[in-house]
Amino acid sequence: MASSLLIKNASQVVTMAGKTEKPARQNAMQQLNVIENGSVLVVDGKIKGVGKLEELKQRYKDDSAAAEVVDATGKTVTPGLIDPHTHLVHAGTRENEYAMRLKGQSYMEIMNAGGGIHATTRATREAGFDQLHEESKQRLDTFFQYGVTTVEAKSGYGLSLEHELKQLEVAAKLNEDHAMDIVSTFMGAHAVPVDEKENPEPFVSRVIEEMIPEVARRKLADFNDVFCERGVFTPDQSRRILEAGKAHGLVPKIHADEIEPYGGAELAAEVGAISADHLLKASEEGIGKMAGNNVIGVLLPGTAFFLMAEYANARKMIDSGVPVALSTDANPGSSPTLSLQFIMNLGCLKMGMTPEEVLSATTINAAHAINRADTIGSLEVGKQADIAIFDVPNYLMLSYNYGMNHIDGVVKRGQFVVA
Ligand code: NIG
Ligand code: FE
Repeated sequence: MASSLLIKNASQVVTMAGKTEKPARQNAMQQLNVIENGSVLVVDGKIKGVGKLEELKQRYKDDSAAAEVVDATGKTVTPGLIDPHTHLVHAGTRENEYAMRLKGQSYMEIMNAGGGIHATTRATREAGFDQLHEESKQRLDTFFQYGVTTVEAKSGYGLSLEHELKQLEVAAKLNEDHAMDIVSTFMGAHAVPVDEKENPEPFVSRVIEEMIPEVARRKLADFNDVFCERGVFTPDQSRRILEAGKAHGLVPKIHADEIEPYGGAELAAEVGAISADHLLKASEEGIGKMAGNNVIGVLLPGTAFFLMAEYANARKMIDSGVPVALSTDANPGSSPTLSLQFIMNLGCLKMGMTPEEVLSATTINAAHAINRADTIGSLEVGKQADIAIFDVPNYLMLSYNYGMNHIDGVVKRGQFVVA
């Protein structure tokens, strides 16, 4: 007997329909395709129908009669939120550096003195597989609590073949034994190891010749990311690393123009990256090139908030035709949060995005940013039944009450994981 679930009479069902083929840009980011007083029928983990209750009952008599029924009166139903940029797998916290930054030290000063990414790299190298698995599992549980049903997860706190593989293997194991879907990105080029700072080329060669081929051979990642920033990897090194990934089937992503304008947005367009992320300091030319080359801008306003920096110019990007997605950038140094709902608030209040745009950016465009829009990101017939139910009567309220968790229930592949 097929297992079915009927979520009925939600005051709004935000479907995001019609954006599966291409990421939503400009006006399309404003179109949510909302059904007032709507219902969703799920059969065997997939969306069977979305519409008015009576229509669904008539059209799918048997399935709706057999379904477990959940009354969503007064609630808002959306696709499960998608977080397309996280540093999920890591050990430890860095609240000491937070205190140092509050006294005036900068993020890059702390990193250049051997802290920052290097501090988490030491902790992650020391941690065994089981500790990393346990810490990351707890983060996934929290992501569910806040309505996120798929996360991208980067390596990059290993900085050696052994420890990069360990991080990616933890992500692969969690993808198997946790209900969350995890999409992996190799980010061996997250920092140059401290003892090689003066002469980074041998490390770049190891990323290209040793790590990328092995990660690809073991099919441990879909994407290859690099921190292209002054003092980390130059645009030339970043280009070589991203091209090497492409040669092994890894799709480029890039941490671009976070601290300084550095040509990262331009490079993303030139190498055909699926996304360029951060972009706080992206140049006008870079934004134009991204728009012309279908590069999704993954914006991370939690990082600007936490580093007390200027926000990315989301308005300019959207108005220029860049498809924009939003993400937590969850990591212990620059964005220690697991709340994509708070990121939605910041998108509106600090980056001038509309409530409609932030919802597009955390559902369908986030799905496009991890190349999963064929199965997730909207409530459309045939897609995976990943659904967030919020205890608010309309979607505007999601980015109105800030710093709060509005989740009432979360469905993953047709099963309640938060109820
Ligand atoms: O996306 N910018 C580089 N990497 C991360 C931060 C990592 C860390 O500080 O541990 C980011 O902000
Ligand atoms: Fe990041």
